Amino acid sequence: MSKIKVLDISLANQIAAGEVVERPSSVVKELVENAIDAQAKKITVRIKDAGRSFIAVEDDGIGMNQEDAKLAFERHATSKISTTFDLFRIKTLGFRGEALPSISAVADVELITSTGEGVGTKINVSSESYEVEDAPLRKGTTITVRNLFYNTPARLKHLKNDYIENANNLEVMQRISLANPSVAFTYINEDRVVFETTGRGDLLEVIYNLFGSFNASKMVEVKFDNPDFSIYGFIGKAEIAKSNRYQMITLLNGRHVFMPKVNRAIIDAYKDFLPTNRYPFVILNFKIDPALVDVNVHPSKKEVRFSKEEDLRKQLLNLIPATLSKEDLSF
Ligand SMILES: Nc1ncnc2c1ncn2[C@@H]1O[C@H](COP(=O)(O)OP(=O)(O)OP(=O)(O)O)[C@@H](O)[C@H]1O
Ligand SMILES: [Mg+2]
Repeated sequence: MSKIKVLDISLANQIAAGEVVERPSSVVKELVENAIDAQAKKITVRIKDAGRSFIAVEDDGIGMNQEDAKLAFERHATSKISTTFDLFRIKTLGFRGEALPSISAVADVELITSTGEGVGTKINVSSESYEVEDAPLRKGTTITVRNLFYNTPARLKHLKNDYIENANNLEVMQRISLANPSVAFTYINEDRVVFETTGRGDLLEVIYNLFGSFNASKMVEVKFDNPDFSIYGFIGKAEIAKSNRYQMITLLNGRHVFMPKVNRAIIDAYKDFLPTNRYPFVILNFKIDPALVDVNVHPSKKEVRFSKEEDLRKQLLNLIPATLSKEDLSF
């Protein structure tokens, strides 16, 4: 008898979930990214128990018809790419067809969705059950995730206290809101509105909504364009510098990613403007031709590679000091 067996689907999904769904904030990120890919203009996120018992993401995007809704929980099922050519020019946040099957392998998931035509759909799915029924026709999608990691005790135990998990949830929500000023976000934690944005497309207004008027008043706009990439965002004056790097927010084509070289360049660019061991408060959006970016490097897409990183680094080393000197901000 052969020893090698193909894993059954639910076991395979649970293994994949280990990479995609590390903690409650991973669920928040995946669901909100799906809503953005579905062209939502208004997204409401509610969480309870730091996301352990309840995470709900409601959007007014394009929704799914019943056939697509049933497929959405299958592994490698995606509407976002279909050829290798697409894989090398990804314009959406998702592309793997992994998130929903992974989440439903480690939690109870309810999906209510409608394209506004035909019939609406409600699907309840967990590792043990799968039920489909008709639902009302409100255009858009609401996904509710309950009892995260109920069947993976090791993962549940690995979670940090509520304070830390809530900090992770907030960080994900802040970064996604900053990357999408044209989407109106409402973030509600235990029935309390943590922040709301208007979706008017004004990045400085989002900074104000998230970080308050003092921080927003101490930010300076930066803009740069060349044929390979563009830079747009706000850089903080010395008064709002931080003691850690958490407010160095870099977004690449709308995706929050970790770019160590670019972060280093930002710190170096600030060296004449900040005391040592202070870190700048910056929010920078980089737009680069998707063909030059490889997002398929890390399972949670935290890391990307792109070929113009060195040019971008040099540009930041010019742009930031030039902008800050104009403001006469040296300490
Ligand atoms: N909020 C939503 N509105 C409309 N369609 C959605 C929504 N969420 C998911 N879908 C559909 O379900 C499919 C599967 O979603 P899933 O997140 O699992 O995969 P993906 O977004 O394609 O890729 P990735 O695993 O990289 O996130 C999507 O491709 C999309 O067609
Ligand atoms: Mg997705």
